[in-house]
Amino acid sequence: MIKKLNDVVFLFLFCGIVCLIGCNNILSENSNETRSLSNHFKNHFHIGAAINENTILGNDNKSKEIVVSEFNSITPENSLKWMFIQPLPGKFDFKVSDKYVNIGSKNGMYTVGHALIWHSQLAEFMQNIDNKDETLFHVKNHINTLMNRYKGKIDAWDVVNEAFEEDGSFRESVFYKNLGKNYIEDVFVLAAKVDPEVDLIYNDYNLYKSEKRLAVINMVNKFKANGTKIDGVGVQAHWDLNTPSINEIENIILDFHETGILVSFTELDISVLPNPWEMIGAEVNQNFSKFEGDPKMNPYPNGLPNNIQDKLAKRYEDIFKLFLKHSDKINRVTFWGVIDKYSWLNDWPIKGRTNYPLLFDKDYKSKKAYYKLLELKTNQN
Ligand code: XIL
Repeated sequence: MIKKLNDVVFLFLFCGIVCLIGCNNILSENSNETRSLSNHFKNHFHIGAAINENTILGNDNKSKEIVVSEFNSITPENSLKWMFIQPLPGKFDFKVSDKYVNIGSKNGMYTVGHALIWHSQLAEFMQNIDNKDETLFHVKNHINTLMNRYKGKIDAWDVVNEAFEEDGSFRESVFYKNLGKNYIEDVFVLAAKVDPEVDLIYNDYNLYKSEKRLAVINMVNKFKANGTKIDGVGVQAHWDLNTPSINEIENIILDFHETGILVSFTELDISVLPNPWEMIGAEVNQNFSKFEGDPKMNPYPNGLPNNIQDKLAKRYEDIFKLFLKHSDKINRVTFWGVIDKYSWLNDWPIKGRTNYPLLFDKDYKSKKAYYKLLELKTNQN
């Protein structure tokens, strides 16, 4: 009898220990600590981050650790832009970009090239050219050189960035003025010839505005009718806590999907600061320097209050719920930066503010929004 009792106690203890080990496993499987963003969304879309020069060159290892563990796609925040990569005619500087693509290859990441043809951050020599032949020569040389050098290492190129105005008309860039209104298509044809394997993307902001979106949709449809290769549209997604609405974002996804191309959210960040455009209307090319140092425009210099942190988390949650709903139409979601401290939104459109637009704070810690995204239900297996 006593022996039997001993057996029962032993069995009881044994089961308890087995259960504890088992429960621990379940805990660690479900715990946020062992998961990553890219793993969590792996059956839905790539999760990317724009990385700056410091991260690429190994001067910010903490950011690099986050990038490697949390993301499966990268975009160079500045290092492949024309003014840095070809500052003088025919003089290319691949020091940073070679390291950038190596990070992508080494970690098996979907590696993005940003951006081939863009009016902004363009080398000065290009801005001063006023004839077609010279412009075409440099455009061809730029595209050939970059696309050939990184063939097989870069998975997607932003071929043309920001070519339309808000009303859907062409932006009067040096490319438009010198090459004519067919230049976007010409450039895509050129890019497809250099590398028929790589994804070719048209990238722009404010695509929630219907006039601008329609211009891009018409362009895509024209490309399709002509047999010109275009694989995706990049929706920049520099948004804030309220704008655009979830409905407006859904319209972007549905409208572009209908044209038969993939949608990527290429530059996602959510500003929590007052929007200067709302203060003085929507006129473009405004100079906001008069707001510099104005405490009303920089309300959280010493930390984000909890209620705004909650709003940011809820905003990210709502956006990603929508992304999951339409994940069959979405190729990639890329955050424009890694930690808040180095976000471009601390200096744009007003210099010297403290913004909180990303998932990791100034001390490299995951924010509430990060955990909210990991709590979303996904088809993980
Ligand atoms: C921004 C960078 O984040 C800044 O560091 C730089 O000073 C200016 O450009 N749209 C784009 C990106 O396509 O390349 C821009 O990146 C942000 C807006």
